[in-house]
Amino acid sequence: MARLRSIVLAFVHVLVSSAHVTTGRDGHGLIGYGISMYNPLCAYTCRDVLSTSMLACSEHTDMHMPMLKKREMHMDIETSPECYASDDSFLRTLAYCMSTHCSDVAMWSLEKYWNLNVAGRQPSQPIPKTTYQQTLANIATEPSDQLVLGEDLNHTMLVSDDDYQASYNAQAMFEKMEDNHEKYAIVLIVSGALIPIAFSLLRFVPFPTALVTQFNAWFVDPPVFGSRHKTPVAGLFHVPTRGQAFFIFYLVSINVILSAVGYQGIQPNSWFASILGRDGEIITYVTNRMGVLSFANIPLLFLYAGRNNVLLWLTNWSHGTFLLLHRWVAWIATLQAILHSAIYLEIYVHGGTHASEAKLPYWIWGIVATLCMSILLPTSILPVRKNVYELFLAWHVVLSIFVLVGCIWHIFKRFTRQWGYETWIYTAIAIWGFERAMRLARLARNGIKTAQVTIIDEDYIRVNIENVSGSGHAFLYFPTLTWRVWENHPFSVASTVIPAGELPGTPQYDADVEKLGASSDGSDSDSHQARQYPSPTKVGLTFLVRCKAGVTAQLRTHERLPVLVESAYGPHADLSDYSRLICIAGGVGITACIPILRAHPGMRKLFWGARSQKVIDAMTPSLRGVEMESYVGKRMNITEVLHRELMEGSTPAAVLVSGPSEMADEVRCVISELGRQNKGVRVKLIEEAFSW
Ligand SMILES: Cc1cc2nc3c(=O)[nH]c(=O)nc-3n(C[C@H](O)[C@H](O)[C@H](O)COP(=O)(O)OP(=O)(O)OC[C@H]3O[C@@H](n4cnc5c(N)ncnc54)[C@H](O)[C@@H]3O)c2cc1C
Ligand SMILES: *[C@@H]1O[C@H](CO)[C@@H](O)[C@H](O)[C@H]1NC(C)=O
Ligand SMILES: *[C@@H]1O[C@H](CO)[C@@H](O)[C@H](O)[C@H]1NC(C)=O
Ligand SMILES: *[C@@H]1O[C@H](CO)[C@@H](O)[C@H](O)[C@H]1NC(C)=O
Repeated sequence: MARLRSIVLAFVHVLVSSAHVTTGRDGHGLIGYGISMYNPLCAYTCRDVLSTSMLACSEHTDMHMPMLKKREMHMDIETSPECYASDDSFLRTLAYCMSTHCSDVAMWSLEKYWNLNVAGRQPSQPIPKTTYQQTLANIATEPSDQLVLGEDLNHTMLVSDDDYQASYNAQAMFEKMEDNHEKYAIVLIVSGALIPIAFSLLRFVPFPTALVTQFNAWFVDPPVFGSRHKTPVAGLFHVPTRGQAFFIFYLVSINVILSAVGYQGIQPNSWFASILGRDGEIITYVTNRMGVLSFANIPLLFLYAGRNNVLLWLTNWSHGTFLLLHRWVAWIATLQAILHSAIYLEIYVHGGTHASEAKLPYWIWGIVATLCMSILLPTSILPVRKNVYELFLAWHVVLSIFVLVGCIWHIFKRFTRQWGYETWIYTAIAIWGFERAMRLARLARNGIKTAQVTIIDEDYIRVNIENVSGSGHAFLYFPTLTWRVWENHPFSVASTVIPAGELPGTPQYDADVEKLGASSDGSDSDSHQARQYPSPTKVGLTFLVRCKAGVTAQLRTHERLPVLVESAYGPHADLSDYSRLICIAGGVGITACIPILRAHPGMRKLFWGARSQKVIDAMTPSLRGVEMESYVGKRMNITEVLHRELMEGSTPAAVLVSGPSEMADEVRCVISELGRQNKGVRVKLIEEAFSW
């Protein structure tokens, strides 16, 4: 109890001491990077010692502080800026103190301090009635009486060395700790952004492919444990790959380390006085560190989340990987925010000042932000995303806005713009703003187009959009389909040309399907060269869509409808170093394979398992020159296929898998195992995911 009481007293002092909080002048940057708290320290120290003194023009307040005995810390004194700026005893005592302690500070610097800070730290306040040098000159006789903290200051007095030292220590150490918080926060955000870039640069180093295969098979591709990565465990979460786990481990460790190191206490210390003051001091630094680190993690998790994301452009990591990191950083930042809040709550509750503190706007906004962050986590888990994706997304955006607003007001209400903590949140807003602006730009570039929907079978439809170009995948908006005009879904560009025969109203397409269907019925896995089709005549994008329950189901009932195309995302990995390309596709996953197959200069093989022959026939025109084995109504034996393909030929092969999660996981595990067991195998795994 005594310990907590001393901590509370320390906070109360920090709260009231004018140099630390209250309104102040705007700072630009961060503490230690553009903002210094107490410079010149000697001058700030002199003023801090005098700040609890009763001046002739001071007033008593009826501030309710149950913890405090009447004279203790003298919290019941209020001195206005006008009072400070005009009180001779205060001005002369301050000037005398400065003259004895600031001998190594330039005079202009002291005068500047004097003008700006004697009355307080407010943006507009009276300037002192005399300059520093005039005030010094006005001191007739050397002061001899020593100031007693909290007593009246009614003539020029001496500040004792003990009082000076205790205030000096308090401010010097507090600022040093603040410097550390910001420095560590920068380490966090910079390393979180640069390490992925640095690791991705390794792809340009010409290591022998066999070595790279070995490395990937051991350290990058396989799941950390078990055989599932894309397939969720217990329907709840995804097991990261070993490569992902390394970086997640780094993120967790660096946060733990940076939360734990770089603390230092100092005594005597006027802000953390009393017998057990040191504990209170360290606890304060820890909870403040939690706050700053949590803030620094926020821009990082916004960066990881974006689809227009500098890291996606500079690295060869997938969007899925960054979304995974987004979730981990969100957990970390939330935990830090909760710790920051809980420690302060504990302190104020035990100190008995919670009731008054909890009414202050800064406190309320802090709670709003922490609460919203805490609600975001459980409402973003996989079952929620899977079952009510659109609801999750809208909710996610709204709560995130509350988090940002809560953080900013928490800071403004507590410190105004003095210390630059809001810079972290501004950074997050800038990252988000850029992301959204890029979406608009990509949409605007394409304008409003018309989508033509063709039904292939009960599962699949084809969507053709003329006069748009693109690659990778695109996000499609169908604003007339639902009232949620912002709703958009990612689809892979299957083709960038629309064969003439596929335009609506031409019966040729159906006829072809029937002919092909007849010839390949009965043989489940048949190798054949795709037949020749009329050459493409129209520029446009073709999508193959598997109808689910939402927008994709509604699309079936339309033939032509307006569409907005947000393209192009996800440039494909450069696979030209691999003389062979092996694609393993499941169902609609074929769409991601087609453009890569078409572009690959070397040998190309496709293994495609689908539910119906119709969808295979529908896509065959796009697969001219590709050796294909299709599996309809029968599971392909992935182990068998990969062993056959990778063991026989010794040339390096790239394996692209695009299909259901179980298929992707099986390919991943088989390839990793092959790599680990056969030193000669040279293979690279690429996974095109249709979910994240
Ligand atoms: C990079 C990428 C490429 C894709 N390419 C294709 C493709 O070429 N052809 C194809 O048929 N499908 C593709 N998909 C999947 C397709 O985006 C979803 O099937 C579609 O969004 C479902 O829409 P719905 O309203 O019918 O969903 P619902 O029936 O409401 O939901 C079905 C499932 O889709 C998920 N989902 C819904 N909306 C989104 C979204 N905006 N982003 C991510 N997941 C979502 C849900 O979590 C749910 O599990 C791709 C997905 C990704 C991530
Ligand atoms: C200053 O105040 C003290 C006690 O409050 C008093 O004893 C003293 O006489 C005062 N001195 C002057 C110069 O007013
Ligand atoms: C595509 O562009 C061509 C040439 O500009 C035009 O004739 C055609 O009508 C356009 N198609 C659509 C669907 O807008
Ligand atoms: C797949 O092939 C492997 C090796 O050829 C074989 O051991 C395995 O039993 C097969 N699996 C199935 C499900 O047929």
